[in-house]
Amino acid sequence: MLPTHSFLQLPAYQQLQSHFEQMKERHLRDLFAENPNRFADFSLRFEDLLVDFSKNRITAETARLLRQLAGEAGLYEAIEKMFSGDAINVTENRSVLHIALRNRSNSPILVDGKDVMPEVNAVLDKMKGFSERISSGDWKGYTGKPITQLVNIGIGGSDLGPVMVTEALKPYAVQKDGKPQLEVHFVSNVDGVHIYETLQKLDPETTLFMIASKTFTTQETMSNAHSARDWFLDHAGDESAVAKHFVAISTNKPEVEKFGIDPENMFVFWDWVGGRYSLWSAIGLSIACYIGFDNFAELLEGGHAMDLHFRNTPIEENIPVTLALVGIWYNNFFGAESHAILPYDQYMHRFAAYFQQGDMESNGKSVDRNGQPTAYQTGPVIWGEPGTNGQHAFYQLIHQGTKLIPCDFIAPAISQRPLGEHHNMLLSNFFAQTEALMNGKSGEEVVSELIKSGKNEDEVALLMPFKVFSGNRPTNSILVRKITPRTLGSLIAMYEHKIFTQGIIWNIFSFDQWGVELGKQLANRILPELADDQPVSSHDSSTNGLINYYKKLRRA
Ligand code: F6P
Repeated sequence: MLPTHSFLQLPAYQQLQSHFEQMKERHLRDLFAENPNRFADFSLRFEDLLVDFSKNRITAETARLLRQLAGEAGLYEAIEKMFSGDAINVTENRSVLHIALRNRSNSPILVDGKDVMPEVNAVLDKMKGFSERISSGDWKGYTGKPITQLVNIGIGGSDLGPVMVTEALKPYAVQKDGKPQLEVHFVSNVDGVHIYETLQKLDPETTLFMIASKTFTTQETMSNAHSARDWFLDHAGDESAVAKHFVAISTNKPEVEKFGIDPENMFVFWDWVGGRYSLWSAIGLSIACYIGFDNFAELLEGGHAMDLHFRNTPIEENIPVTLALVGIWYNNFFGAESHAILPYDQYMHRFAAYFQQGDMESNGKSVDRNGQPTAYQTGPVIWGEPGTNGQHAFYQLIHQGTKLIPCDFIAPAISQRPLGEHHNMLLSNFFAQTEALMNGKSGEEVVSELIKSGKNEDEVALLMPFKVFSGNRPTNSILVRKITPRTLGSLIAMYEHKIFTQGIIWNIFSFDQWGVELGKQLANRILPELADDQPVSSHDSSTNGLINYYKKLRRA
């Protein structure tokens, strides 16, 4: 069991409240002016990764109190519980062991007294063998041709991780004739358009479908899987060909067999792997095939290295804990409601979307570990787009809007595709944005700029208020040498542990997701009602009205 506490009653929380009263008006500009060592004092290193958290509205005292908060919330005890396989996912009575999937030191990890590592390694071996057969062309389709297209059918954690990683690591794709040997496609939405558009691009003779679903009962995935199989059989015309073109990734063997996939072609994982933490498991099979198993193993290595850092590093130097604490400072004291993740790397364009599930499905909770409503804010809204696109879309609001939006800026020093001045231009924006958000621009600065540009007194007076930037808008800057499989693994694990840390401190359960159930249940109830054109009256007036209007529209 996890220790529980009352967040608002923690002594450090109360001290932070009075500390906040002193801090809330302080400007980052002044904090930097007061302490010339601020960058050194508030930045951390892990391998070649640098986390600069100096542009946050904190002092050494804030950091001390936040660390005290983590201690009082029993963070280090909770970390040990996770790493040693305790059933910390209490409402589902499960361990939380994505860390075992990347436990490259192979030290035993026990669940109910049994070491899980032999099974983890056996699945990794099977993934290695399979991915090698695919890339060597040894795995043949029903007409004897090698596989050139992979389609991962899954949703949520069974989709977002593989999508994000295969995009982020595109430059590491196994090559043939100067281009990626495999095309990877991802189908997730139950909207038939998604599978339809994907199937248009495929040749059944050279396509392999991976049906990725922890439960193998998820409506979206199973509908898409059946449609894919129907399409395939329309072409192949023979059930026996299915074995060469469909594999399953799941914890549910009976359902996989029922679907008609040969258990030989099933890659298992375990109930102690949460969906949104599953890219490290067999759910990563599309990644392993696309970038090659050695690169997949590097991804695991990077995750494992961050696990060791998280578990063993003192709190003052612990990167995930630091990011978590800074996030809590804004979430629970400044009242910030969202958090932006802004990668300055086009290949990482799905990174924020990935952590929308990672964070919001984990910490989007309003009941604490005692089963009581939380009287405080928990997980923020996570959002973001790659820089510089975001700059020309929503950064206006971050700079001058009424909302405080803490941001993580992430960038590699070395581009995957060096091209003229592009990377320096990209990075000049990366540096400029956090500087601008911190410093802002004062009224005097605006006035002198306007005068210099030739504006008269009236024009200056008119324009000045709109051109002022208050600044004091907090950011973290995360800089790595290059986005490699290892670095990406570390970055993902860093955010996972940040989320874990916040969940522990907020006294919530981060590893269940009951909130997605109600909508699913109601959709299942509504689906049969849509089968005919009879008006419905079993719901509230809005839902009845909408369903009945839908029925009318579709008839027309
Ligand atoms: O959205 C709810 C959820 O259970 C996620 O946690 C999970 O990643 C997703 O559905 C897919 O579930 P499955 O892998 O069982 O199909």
